[in-house]
Amino acid sequence: MHPLQCVLQVQRSLGWGPLASVSWLSLRMCRAHSSLSSTMCPSPERQEDGARKDFSSRLAAGPTFQHFLKSASAPQEKLSSEVEDPPPYLMMDELLGRQRKVYLETYGCQMNVNDTEIAWSILQKSGYLRTSNLQEADVILLVTCSIREKAEQTIWNRLHQLKALKTRRPRSRVPLRIGILGCMAERLKEEILNREKMVDILAGPDAYRDLPRLLAVAESGQQAANVLLSLDETYADVMPVQTSASATSAFVSIMRGCDNMCSYCIVPFTRGRERSRPIASILEEVKKLSEQRRGFSMLFRLVSISRPQVFLPPRPPKVLGLQGLKEVTLLGQNVNSFRDNSEVQFNSAVPTNLSRGFTTNYKTKQGGLRFAHLLDQVSRVDPEMRIRFTSPHPKDFPDEVLQLIHERDNICKQIHLPAQSGSSRVLEAMRRGYSREAYVELVHHIRESIPGVSLSSDFIAGFCGETEEDHVQTVSLLREVQYNMGFLFAYSMRQKTRAYHRLKDDVPEEVKLRRLEELITIFREEATKANQTSVGCTQLVLVEGLSKRSATDLCGRNDGNLKVIFPDAEMEDVNNPGLRVRAQPGDYVLVKITSASSQTLRGHVLCRTTLRDSSAYC
Ligand code: 5AD
Ligand code: SF4
Repeated sequence: MHPLQCVLQVQRSLGWGPLASVSWLSLRMCRAHSSLSSTMCPSPERQEDGARKDFSSRLAAGPTFQHFLKSASAPQEKLSSEVEDPPPYLMMDELLGRQRKVYLETYGCQMNVNDTEIAWSILQKSGYLRTSNLQEADVILLVTCSIREKAEQTIWNRLHQLKALKTRRPRSRVPLRIGILGCMAERLKEEILNREKMVDILAGPDAYRDLPRLLAVAESGQQAANVLLSLDETYADVMPVQTSASATSAFVSIMRGCDNMCSYCIVPFTRGRERSRPIASILEEVKKLSEQRRGFSMLFRLVSISRPQVFLPPRPPKVLGLQGLKEVTLLGQNVNSFRDNSEVQFNSAVPTNLSRGFTTNYKTKQGGLRFAHLLDQVSRVDPEMRIRFTSPHPKDFPDEVLQLIHERDNICKQIHLPAQSGSSRVLEAMRRGYSREAYVELVHHIRESIPGVSLSSDFIAGFCGETEEDHVQTVSLLREVQYNMGFLFAYSMRQKTRAYHRLKDDVPEEVKLRRLEELITIFREEATKANQTSVGCTQLVLVEGLSKRSATDLCGRNDGNLKVIFPDAEMEDVNNPGLRVRAQPGDYVLVKITSASSQTLRGHVLCRTTLRDSSAYC
């Protein structure tokens, strides 16, 4: 019997209930990229008879049992870039989008923003169209986050709203398909399909290449899922499509996954093992982004040369006109653990340098091209392009990384240094691999190595076993370091994690919230003090556009990634003496800072400049 027929028959005899377990078995058997890594769980209320009969008859002529065994025995061998033959039970044209309109909604971190661009790039190549209007969508895909309970609750609420949209859909239109992508798909797997029958597809973070096939299966009224994690998927060959046409900044994913296994964190389970993208493909993407920028500058220059007298065009409301990309943020769950092992010659046993006093939860890895090497190469591509990176782990800041940040004008002097707690006892329970003392020593070392560096951090309030004394230690760390930016969270227990299995979530909810409030207050006080040291300084600001609060103000970011607001006024262009201009998105301008709060700086604009020229002014 054909294996899929077998699955379907077992499903029928079980009365549809335990379908998923049978399907997940087949899913695991087939491994990544095989042609049967989806669940086939017809929901009775959504039977589209004609389509399904047709589909079933094609299933009968589909792959043999051997086909799946073969796939199972050769896992991970296929390169991500290899072109797949279409699965035998799907026609080639069923893998195409047929002008169906996709609406993508992103939740969570910047990795998810980048993943949305990757998913869209894949769908666009398959003939799907993109819409920003929910009402006209044929496919709605939510790129989800699981890091805290609250993040997931937001998605469940959204699914209830979408359910209404699906039910109300007129019969004259093609049925609306809804998909859950990313961490929540990975964490909850079939629970989502069982709980929300109106979800049609699930795609884990390593399964976006499979989206056209999953949607093709969903077209016939089946639920479809691929939540296989991969050891090598980095989407290296997928050029993400910039979602925002007005972007002055782009994300470039350089690695995926996390091997750290901090005891509170779900990420290693939803995103899988650490793997880095080859440097060559990262550089290629950054070069393309830079060419895009230079293309824009050329066009901009032509406009200003051909119309010298009317160079100050009236500004259209809301939109500021042409844009320029001037910033690249390198992304990864553990961005500075980057290690390109893609070529044998990279693997000479170069020892791994960690920050002093820091350890790893895993056996130290050797060889490969490391983050300092990548940062060096990326920063050389375009001296006018700012380089940032997130999210790093404090253990991976060896001196060579700090020196490079100090030396290169276009690498932003901004470091995110997630501390999580100020108590060594809690840090140990969190399995962070450092003590408070080692962390503080690193902060001092970073400040000595990179004068004027801006620091930010993540903290968790109310982790398992956290006492009042531990909390006071965190408060004192906030006071001691005086971060410029902070991201503070109440602890949220996640299944599968070490803390879930071994520790007790024993800090009452109201205590967690009270401690969180205290941390927020202290962080704000200290950030205000830290940011006030900028008052009177002249800072280089990359203009983003109009301020959200006032149509007469512009906003941009300084080197430390802090928002800077200033009135939209005429100024001189230092490269064209005598020319009076007004700032456009993507311009670098010098702003004299006049006031500061915990989150924003205010000032007035002095002149338009370039990144290279600006160092002389600061
Ligand atoms: N509960 C609360 N916060 C968490 N984070 C990660 N896991 C949890 C959790 N279970 C926070 C950490 C991390 C940031 C991305 O999210 O501070 O650095
Ligand atoms: Fe989670 Fe970050 Fe720790 Fe990895 S390093 S387990 S992503 S908190």
